[in-house]
Amino acid sequence: MYGKRQNGAGNKHNLAGFQPGLPALARAAQPPLLMRVLAIESSCDESAVAVLDRRRGLLSHELFSQIELHRAYGGVVPELASRDHVRRLLPLVQRALAVADSRPADLTGVAYTAGPGLIGALLSGAALARSLAYGWQLPAIGVHHLEGHLLAPLLEPEAPPFPHVALLVSGGHTMLIEVQGIGRYRLLGETRDDAAGEAFDKSAKLLGLPYPGGPQLAALAAHGTRGALKLPRPMLDQPGFEFSFSGLKTAVQLAARAAPLSDSRRADIARAVQDAIVETLCVKALRAVDSLGHRTLVVAGGVGANLELRSRLSAGAAAQGVRVYYPRLEFCTDNAAMIAVAGLERLAAGEQEPHRISVRARWPLTDLRPPGFAHPHPATGVS
Ligand code: KG4
Ligand code: ZN
Repeated sequence: MYGKRQNGAGNKHNLAGFQPGLPALARAAQPPLLMRVLAIESSCDESAVAVLDRRRGLLSHELFSQIELHRAYGGVVPELASRDHVRRLLPLVQRALAVADSRPADLTGVAYTAGPGLIGALLSGAALARSLAYGWQLPAIGVHHLEGHLLAPLLEPEAPPFPHVALLVSGGHTMLIEVQGIGRYRLLGETRDDAAGEAFDKSAKLLGLPYPGGPQLAALAAHGTRGALKLPRPMLDQPGFEFSFSGLKTAVQLAARAAPLSDSRRADIARAVQDAIVETLCVKALRAVDSLGHRTLVVAGGVGANLELRSRLSAGAAAQGVRVYYPRLEFCTDNAAMIAVAGLERLAAGEQEPHRISVRARWPLTDLRPPGFAHPHPATGVS
């Protein structure tokens, strides 16, 4: 969508269509029409920076993954993540600007992930973003990480129409959301315990696969036989849009207990885990689209990179007359391009924050006021 339209013209997501429902947000009198934002993502173990131009599209996106740093510990070590963000982010900013052939003077704003995520990791990115914005005399905007995931499909040449249902499946979240427009999100249901990504990761660990487990388990599952064993699909038969994946790891634990575990048995277990998660996600997501009467489903978040999920969902949706939109694989997992989209849309709507660093480790998607907006400015009355 970005780069395919003229400024403000024929754009479903321009100012007129923007209904963020954020009463407490500051609104600039005249939001700049020519917009180019630099965005920083640092909520977990990926340091990423992108430059997005409203007319010319995504000009650069740089990413450094900390996977190697955390692998020895079998998971993300928050303090190590924060320190590494401090090391990596500024060189990534320099590279992103160079690749985008942009100078700070070409930018109209800076966006950064303000939560939810690891608090120290968030602070590393927020402090840098705010400092750059202050030094460059630009507005800055804190973005909700999940809103970034939800809007990632807008980076593709064909953007999904609104309203639609989004299946948001990441390492920390599994949600079905009705996306009525940019900034207007209604939670339909979510997991009661483990997230889908977490279920992939924990099962992978039980099978002795290295961190991060999701992609590793998916690769192993490709060698397994479908139906060799069947794992539970909790809550599948119950109405509604809630999930529960915590029972899966117990089932995997039991299945993996029969030592020694042959390579083919491990692959069969991996296959069964993937099938259980994928089937549950497909059934509930298509049920949600159907019951709301929508014809569009968006899949977002790291688990959206799972190829089995993509093919099963596309097949099921086609049979139901529903079209599924996915971000390209690299924009399913954490990245700064999606933060740039959310930031650009918010800045384009005239939202600005006061010069204050404020992040949230936990932040419900249903309250999108960025952190630090509680008190109106004494002089302007703008909060
Ligand atoms: O969205 P994301 O990059 O980070 C969070 O915001 O959590 O999602 C990461 C999650 C991890 O649990 C990872 O194992 C999972 O997405 N993941 C996958 C695949 N690629 C990433 N799970 C299954 N299959 C994949 N191909
Ligand atoms: Zn994420």
